[in-house]
Amino acid sequence: MPNLSKPGDIISADICKRSIGGLGFLVRERRRKPVVIVSDIIEGGAAHDTGLLEVGDVVLKVNSVDLTNVSYQEALYALRAVKPGETATLLLRVRDGFTSRLETTFNHQGQARTVRITESSVPVVNSEGKSSKLTNGGPNLDNRIVRSTPNGQNTRRRESVKKIESKTNSLSELTCGVCLSSNNPTIPQPPRVSAPNDRRQDVSQTVTKVVNDEPKSGSSKMAETKNIPNGHSITNGGNAKWNDLNGNAIAKDDVVDATIVARRPTEKTPLVNGIEKPKSAESHTPTSVKPIHKSSSTESNHQPSYHTLRNWETGTRTNDTLYTKCMKAQSVATGCTRNKCLGSVMNPDHMSIDPRKNVRSKEEKLEMAVDFIKQYYGSMKRKNPEMEKKRLAEVVESIEKTGSYQLTEYELIFGAKTAWRNAPRCIGRIQWNKLQVFDYRHVDNTAQMFDAICNHLKYATNKGNIRSCITFFPQRTDYKKDFRVWSSQYIRYAGYGQPDGSIIGDPANVEFTEVCIKLGWKPKFGRFDILPLVLQANGEDPDIYEIPPDLALEVKLRHPRFKWFEELGYKWCAVPAVSNVLLDIGGLEFPAAPFNGWFMGTEIARDLCDVARYNVLQDVAEKMNLDTRNTSSLWKDIALVEFNVAVLHSYQSDRVTIMDHHSATQSFMKHYANELKLRGGCPGDWVWLTPPISGSITPIFHQEVLNYILHPSCKYQPDPWKYHVWKGKVNKVKKAIRFKELAKSVLIMSSMMGKAMANRVKATILYASETGKSLEYAKTLCDIFNHAFAAKVVCMDDYDIVHLEHETLLLVVTSTFGNGDPPENGVNLGQTLVELSKPEESQDNLGTDKTRFTSIHNVTPSVRRRSSVAMEPIDLPDIGEATGLLANLRFAVFGLGSRAYPHFCAFAHAIDTLLGELSGDRLLEIGEGDELCGQEESFRNWAKKVFQIACETFCVGEDVSVEAASASLAGQDRSWSPNKFRIAVDPEDVEEPALLEGLSNFHKKKVSGCKLKKRTNLQSGEQDRGTILVEFDSSSSSEIKYLPGDHIGIYPCNQTEIVDRILERLHDKVDEKALIQLQIFEQRTTPLGVISNWLPDKRLPACTLRTAFERYFDITTCPTPQLLKIFADCAADDKEKARLLELSEGKSEYEEWKFHFLPNLAEVLAEFPSVRVEASLLLSQLSPLQCRYYSISSSTDVYPNEVHCTVAIVSYNTQGGSGTKRHGVCSSYLNRMELGSDICCFIRPATSFHLPKNSSAPCLLIGPGTGIAPFRSFWQQRMYDIKQGKQVGEVALLFGCRHPDRDHLYKDEIQEAKNCGAITEYHTAFSRLPGQPKQYVQHVLKEQLADLAYDWLLKNSGHVYICGDVTMADDVNNALMEVLEKKANISKKEAREHVTKMKEQGLYHEDIFGVTLRTYEVNKSVRQRHVTSKKK
Ligand SMILES: Cc1cc2nc3c(=O)[nH]c(=O)nc-3n(C[C@H](O)[C@H](O)[C@H](O)COP(=O)(O)OP(=O)(O)OC[C@H]3O[C@@H](n4cnc5c(N)ncnc54)[C@H](O)[C@@H]3O)c2cc1C
Ligand SMILES: NC(=O)c1ccc[n+]([C@@H]2O[C@H](COP(=O)([O-])OP(=O)(O)OC[C@H]3O[C@@H](n4cnc5c(N)ncnc54)[C@H](OP(=O)(O)O)[C@@H]3O)[C@@H](O)[C@H]2O)c1
Ligand SMILES: Cc1cc2nc3c(=O)[nH]c(=O)nc-3n(C[C@H](O)[C@H](O)[C@H](O)COP(=O)(O)O)c2cc1C
Repeated sequence: MPNLSKPGDIISADICKRSIGGLGFLVRERRRKPVVIVSDIIEGGAAHDTGLLEVGDVVLKVNSVDLTNVSYQEALYALRAVKPGETATLLLRVRDGFTSRLETTFNHQGQARTVRITESSVPVVNSEGKSSKLTNGGPNLDNRIVRSTPNGQNTRRRESVKKIESKTNSLSELTCGVCLSSNNPTIPQPPRVSAPNDRRQDVSQTVTKVVNDEPKSGSSKMAETKNIPNGHSITNGGNAKWNDLNGNAIAKDDVVDATIVARRPTEKTPLVNGIEKPKSAESHTPTSVKPIHKSSSTESNHQPSYHTLRNWETGTRTNDTLYTKCMKAQSVATGCTRNKCLGSVMNPDHMSIDPRKNVRSKEEKLEMAVDFIKQYYGSMKRKNPEMEKKRLAEVVESIEKTGSYQLTEYELIFGAKTAWRNAPRCIGRIQWNKLQVFDYRHVDNTAQMFDAICNHLKYATNKGNIRSCITFFPQRTDYKKDFRVWSSQYIRYAGYGQPDGSIIGDPANVEFTEVCIKLGWKPKFGRFDILPLVLQANGEDPDIYEIPPDLALEVKLRHPRFKWFEELGYKWCAVPAVSNVLLDIGGLEFPAAPFNGWFMGTEIARDLCDVARYNVLQDVAEKMNLDTRNTSSLWKDIALVEFNVAVLHSYQSDRVTIMDHHSATQSFMKHYANELKLRGGCPGDWVWLTPPISGSITPIFHQEVLNYILHPSCKYQPDPWKYHVWKGKVNKVKKAIRFKELAKSVLIMSSMMGKAMANRVKATILYASETGKSLEYAKTLCDIFNHAFAAKVVCMDDYDIVHLEHETLLLVVTSTFGNGDPPENGVNLGQTLVELSKPEESQDNLGTDKTRFTSIHNVTPSVRRRSSVAMEPIDLPDIGEATGLLANLRFAVFGLGSRAYPHFCAFAHAIDTLLGELSGDRLLEIGEGDELCGQEESFRNWAKKVFQIACETFCVGEDVSVEAASASLAGQDRSWSPNKFRIAVDPEDVEEPALLEGLSNFHKKKVSGCKLKKRTNLQSGEQDRGTILVEFDSSSSSEIKYLPGDHIGIYPCNQTEIVDRILERLHDKVDEKALIQLQIFEQRTTPLGVISNWLPDKRLPACTLRTAFERYFDITTCPTPQLLKIFADCAADDKEKARLLELSEGKSEYEEWKFHFLPNLAEVLAEFPSVRVEASLLLSQLSPLQCRYYSISSSTDVYPNEVHCTVAIVSYNTQGGSGTKRHGVCSSYLNRMELGSDICCFIRPATSFHLPKNSSAPCLLIGPGTGIAPFRSFWQQRMYDIKQGKQVGEVALLFGCRHPDRDHLYKDEIQEAKNCGAITEYHTAFSRLPGQPKQYVQHVLKEQLADLAYDWLLKNSGHVYICGDVTMADDVNNALMEVLEKKANISKKEAREHVTKMKEQGLYHEDIFGVTLRTYEVNKSVRQRHVTSKKK
C-alpha cells in the first residue's frame, strides 16, 4: 500500500506489447511495496515511444491487477500475462522526490501532443542563485517528450508548450495586460507582436489533466474537478473530467490518453523568495498557503495566494506571491476576462485615466495615500514606526481637510521609482532604482516648464551616455488646471498629410503636427523635422517652444556593410522621453511627469519599418536586391534584421546608449529573478516584453509572466487637445518661441525665481566633527554647492538614515578621533552604515563595545567608480542592474585627520568604503586633509574638483564659474559683509542668560555646573612642569553621573591677557561690560513684498563682549585662511594686505607660518595693525571655543558628588622651544582658577573603557604620565568593591614617568591599592633616570610582563587598557603583538589577528588623548615626511 501521506504523482499509460521487445522496459524489485520498479527503458521500444515511462517509476497496476500489495513474483506474472499485440494499461507512480504531470496541446490540425514533465519536488539552487528543479535524467528538456498523437503517430520533439490558466483558476481576472512600455506607448500603433497572438491560439487549446491522489488498493476513484493553489485542476481519479481553456468539461477520449496526479493542495511546499522550498517536517503546515476568499458563488471559493510560473526553457518553476498585493484596494481590474484578452490593446481603459470620467473620490485617494505611505516606510531598511505613524496622521488630516496632500521629496522619488518598477510592459526595469528625479512641482508657467525640460534633456542625453530620469510638474488639482506636455515624447518628428493621402514624415504625428501648426509653428515639410514642445501650465492655453538644437541629439543611421544605407537619410533621436504619461502615486495624479530610459534597437527599427509609420522596409529590401515578390522569400525578415543591425551599429558608433533585444531580455530575466527574491514576484506583460523580432530566441519568450497592476503606476491619458477648453489662442496663429528669444526669457525667468530654479538637484552635506573643523569645511562646501544645487549641511547625528536611499548627491566631511574612531556625533551613522552593508557582521558585533572602523577600509576592494561624467571618455552604457540600496546615490567624502595618528582619516575611509559597498556611485576619490600639513589646500582642491564633477554629472551650473563658486574657499565668506552683521548694545527686552544656559544653547548640549573644591600639585621638582589633581564638587548638578573610565568635558575660559589685547584692537569701541547682541540682516520675499529686518543671530547668546571672547570663541588657534582673507579686505596698508592675501591662499606659506609661530588672534592682529577689525566681524566669523576632555580619576562610590581629574599643565614655547611662551587654554585655566569657582562641564560616557562586566577577569592597565588618570578611578572602584566583599580579579598596573622622585603620580595611593588587593601587580618605567637608558612602558611590557600578558590575554580572555598618547598606544600595541608572537610561538599575522579579535570582542580598550607626548617632535617629523613625499 503506498504511503499516502507523501506526495506522489500517478500516471496512467497505455502500452501496446510488441512481439519483439515486449512492453519495452525492464523492471527490478523494490524492498518496499509496491515492489516493481522500472529499471531500464529500451531505446526505440514500446514504452520509449509512448514517452510516458521513466526509469524509477513504480508500477502500481497492470490492467486490472493491483500490484501495490503483491509479491515481486506475482507482479512479474501479471506483467508477463499481457499478450503481444494487446495494450497494457499501466498505473505508475513517479519515483520518490519527483513529481510529474502531462501537458497536452493541439496543433491547428487538431493533433494532440502530450508532454510528460518530471521534476524534483525539491528545488536546487544553481550557480546563478536561481532555483530550479532537478529533473528526471538530467537536463529537463529531455523530459519534454511529446506523446503520441490521437492518430497513433508518436513524435518526440523538444518543444515548449505554453500552459495557460484553466477556467477554474480565478486568477484569470488578472491575466491580461496593464502597463506602459518604453516601446512607444504613446502612439496608436498596431499591436506590436503578432507572434504571441499566434502562439496564444495554439496554446488556447491546451488541456491539462490531473488527478488528485493515489488510488487506494488499486481502485482509481474519480471525482469532480477542484481548484488547487498551484493552478492545476485536479480530480480524484476515476472518471476524470478534462478542462479545456474555457473550463468546459470535455470527454476524455477526445484529448488525452494518460492521467497524471498532482500533489494535493495541502502538500504544497512553503515559499521562500517566490521559489518553492523543500518541505521539512517543521516548516510544512497545510495552512502555509492561505486561500483568499473569493465572493463569486459560481466558482470555487479558493483563490491561490501565489501563482506558479514556469520557464519552459530551463524548467524552472517560480511562484509569484506579489500579485496578491494588487487584489487589495489599490488594484484595478485589468480589463481582461476569461473569454477576452486585452493583451495586445495599446491603451486599454483600465490603464488609462480620463480626467473627465475618472474623478478620484476622497475615500479612494485616502486609501491609496495610506497604502502608499505604508509602502514607503515599509521599503526602508531602517524601520521608523513613529515617523510612519506621524506621517500617516499628517496625510490623513490633510486629505480630510483639503481633499489632497503633498508628497515629500523623498516620497516622490520612491513613488517614481516604484511606478517604474511596477510597469509590466517595460523591459528595462532592472534599472528602476537608478532613476534621477527632478522635482519641478513648484513651477507655475510654461517658460519654467521649458527650462526644466531642457535640463532634463541635457541630463538624460549626457553626450550620448544616456541616463534615466523623470521630471515632475505640479500634481492635478482640477483637470481644468492641469500642467501638461502635449507632445507625446520630447522629440517627435512632424508628419504632414498630403492631398493625395500620402504622408511626409512620421505618420504617427500627423494630428499633433496640425496642432503645432495651428499654434503658430512653421512647418518645414521635411521627413525628420523635430516638432516643438507644446506646454500647458495651470490649464491655460499651451505655448510652443523650439527645442534647442544642441539638446536634441540625433543619430544618422548607417550600416556596417551596406555603404548605400547612409544615403537613405534615415535618422532617429537619442533619448526616448515619454511625456504624455500620467504618474499615479499615492492617490495623487501627475499628468505631466515626462521620463526617459534609453532605446532598445528594435523600437527604432519599428518606428521606421512599421507599415503605419515610416514604412521603409520595401526600400531597404530593394536596395538589398531581395526578392520582394512573395513573402516566402522572407525578404521582410531579412531586411528587418539588417535594419536592426544598422540601428545598433549607428548608435554604438556614435557612442549613444542603446540595447539590443537579446541583452535587454537577458537583463529583464535577471531583474525578474531579483524581483522574485526581493518582493516575491514581478508583474509583466508578456506580449510587450517579448521583442518584436526573434522572439523565441530571447529568454523572455519561454518565461510565463503574470500581468497585474500595482500602485504607484504609470497611466495613459487622453491627448489634451481632445478636451482642452481654449481660452483664446485657438486658431490664433502665435509664433513659436525660438530658442534665442527663449533663452533670454528663460534667463530672466530663472533669475526672477532666483535659487529656486537654479538649485535643481538636492545635495546633502553630512559632517561629523569633534572640534568643529569639519563643520567649517562642510559649511564652505555648502556655499560652493549652493551655486548650482540645493545644498544643506546636516550633522550625522541629526540625520535620519531612512532618507539615505533617496538621496541623490551626498557629500561627507568628517574627522577621525580616538585611535581611528569616529567623532562622537558620527558614531551612530557609521554603525548604521555597517549594519546596512554587512547585516551579519554587525549582528556579530552586537556583544562588543564598538565597531572598529579602522578595519573597514583595509579589507575593502579598490575604488569603484561607475563614471557617469560626460567629460571623461564615455563608458560603455551602464545598463546593469541597479538593485543596491544606494544605487542612485552619487557621493564623495573628505576626511580630516592628522598623520601623527596611525589610523589617518580612518573613519572617513570607512564611510567612503561603506557607501561604495552599498552601491553608491563615487564621484571623486576620497580627499584627505592632514592638520599637520596642507589641510586647507587639500580641502580647497578637493572641493573645487568635486563641485565641477557634480555639475557635469547633473548637467547643472552651466552658467556658474567654478572659480566664482569657490570664492567661499578664498574667504568671500557666505556670511561676512560689513552690512550684514551688527552689534546691538543693550538691546531692549533682552537679558543675558546664565553662562550654563548660554553655553548649552551655543553648543547645543546640556552643560552643567560644578565647583572647584581642591587642587593638588602631583609633581615635585621641575618648576616648569606641573600635573594637578583637580577635585570638583558636583552636588548642585544631579545629572552629573558617571562610571570609572568615563570622561568629563570642560568648557574653559580664555586667558584674560589675550582677551584684553583683542578688545583693545577692536575698531568699534563697544563697552566691554555692556550687554550686546549680534544681529544679522535678513531679507525675505513675502506675498506682501520684500521684508528686511535685523534679527538676533541664533548662534551667540546675548552677553558682554568680554564674555564672548572669554567663553564662546576660540581665540588661540591660528586664524583660518578664510578669516585672513577677510582681514586682508579690512587692511589699510597694502603690504599687510598683500601678505594677508598670500597667507589666505592656505598654501605652503600659510602652513609654514602656522607651524612655526602658532599665532593666536591677538598676535595676528598685532602683526597686521592696519586691519580695521570690528566686533561683529569676529563674533560672526570665529569658531566656537571647544570643550576639553579629561578622563575621570575618581569613583563615585568612593567620592559621591565629586569628580576628580588628573591634568597635565600644557605650556611650551613656539618655534621648537625658542619662541613665545604658550599656555594650554584649559589646563592653565584649571591651574589658575580660584577654589570655589564654577566650571561648566558635562559627562561623556566612554562605554568602551569601562571595567569588565565579569569582575574576576584579569586586567592589564598601561598608562604613562597623565595616562594614569582613569586607572585611579579603577583602583578606587576596586578598593570599594573589595570592601563590599565583592570578588575581583587580578589587576596589573604599568606606569611610566621620567623620574621616581619627580613625576611619579599617585605613588602612595598606588601602594595603598596594592595593599588592599585592588592592584595585584605594579610595574614602572622611568625614562630619565640619570645614567640609565630610557625606559618606556612598552619596554617594560616586553621585558617584565611578557609571561603575564601571554597568560592573561591569550589564555584567559583578560582585558588590556591603554591610556594616554596615541604614539605610545601604538607602540604598546606593537609590543603586545611581539610578546604574543614569541610567547605563543605564533606568526606575526596570527598575533595581529589575535589583537584584532580582542578589539572586536571588547577585550582591548584604548583611551586616547591625542598627540600629547613629544608634541613638537612628532609633528615636525610627520610634517617633514609629508613635505618630502610631496616634493618627490
Ligand atoms: C578623550 C580624552 C581624554 C583626555 N584626558 C586627559 C587627562 O585625563 N588629563 C590630561 O591632562 N589631559 C587629557 N586629555 C587632553 C586634554 O583634553 C587637553 O587636550 C589638554 O589638557 C590640553 O588642553 P589645553 O586647553 O590646556 O591646551 P590647548 O590650548 O588645547 O593646547 C594644546 C595644543 O597645543 C599644541 N602643543 C602642545 N605642546 C606643544 C609643543 N611643544 N609645541 C607645539 N605645539 C604644542 C598642540 O597642538 C596641542 O593640541 C584628554 C584628551 C582626550 C581627547
Ligand atoms: N608644562 C607642564 O607643566 C607639563 C607637565 C606635564 C605634562 N605636560 C604636557 O603634557 C604632555 C603629557 O604629559 P604627561 O605627564 O602625560 O607625560 P610626560 O610626563 O610627558 O611623559 C610620561 C612618560 O612617557 C614617556 N614617553 C614619551 N614618549 C613615549 C612613547 N612614545 N611611548 C611611551 N612613553 C613615552 C616620557 O618619556 P620622555 O619624556 O623622557 O621621553 C615619560 O617618561 C607632555 O608632553 C607635556 O606636553 C606639561
Ligand atoms: C584625541 C584626538 C585623537 C585623534 N585621532 C585621530 C586619528 O586616529 N586619526 C586621524 O587621522 N586624526 C586623528 N585626530 C586628528 C583630528 O582628526 C583632526 O584634528 C581634525 O582636524 C579634527 O577635525 P574636527 O574638528 O572636525 O573634529 C585626532 C585628534 C585628537 C585631538
